[in-house]
Amino acid sequence: MVKPDGVQRGLVGEVIGRIERRGLKIVALRLNTISPEQAKKHYAEHVQKPFFKSLIDFITSGPSVSMVVEGKNSVSVMRAINGATNPVNAATGSIRGDLALDTGRNIVHASDSPESAVREINIHFSDSEISEYTRIDETWVYE
Ligand code: RTP
Ligand code: MG
Repeated sequence: MVKPDGVQRGLVGEVIGRIERRGLKIVALRLNTISPEQAKKHYAEHVQKPFFKSLIDFITSGPSVSMVVEGKNSVSVMRAINGATNPVNAATGSIRGDLALDTGRNIVHASDSPESAVREINIHFSDSEISEYTRIDETWVYE
């Protein structure tokens, strides 16, 4: 997900470009403002955290871009592309390490396990919105 700060800062193309160039395949994509109900489900694991309300307010404050991304080790690769949650600790070369300074404005979200990915995909997309296709460079990305 490109969060509202990423959309407002004109970084949608930058984020998507990094994902595509790495070789990961985008199989679903949408720009919209997510509802508080969706946001609360999405971040259910953080319901007890002190930052929960500000996180929900922020993520629903404007349009964000939701994506489903596929590829070998896609969960760990996507989290490395994004970098550490706190941009201060994010590696240079990652989205957060290159483009962000504050945990509450860290531009992107990615699922933290395949199980979370399934759960989150069901919050944001219906089956008919997910496309199955072969990218023409697959034999050059994978051995
Ligand atoms: P995300 O879920 O957004 O991909 O980020 P993450 O896994 O790296 O971090 P997570 O622990 O799941 O936290 C979700 C988002 O909540 C905000 N946050 N604020 N003030 C704080 O201490 C704090 N901690 C987390 C961040 O926007 C984080 O991305
Ligand atoms: Mg998380």
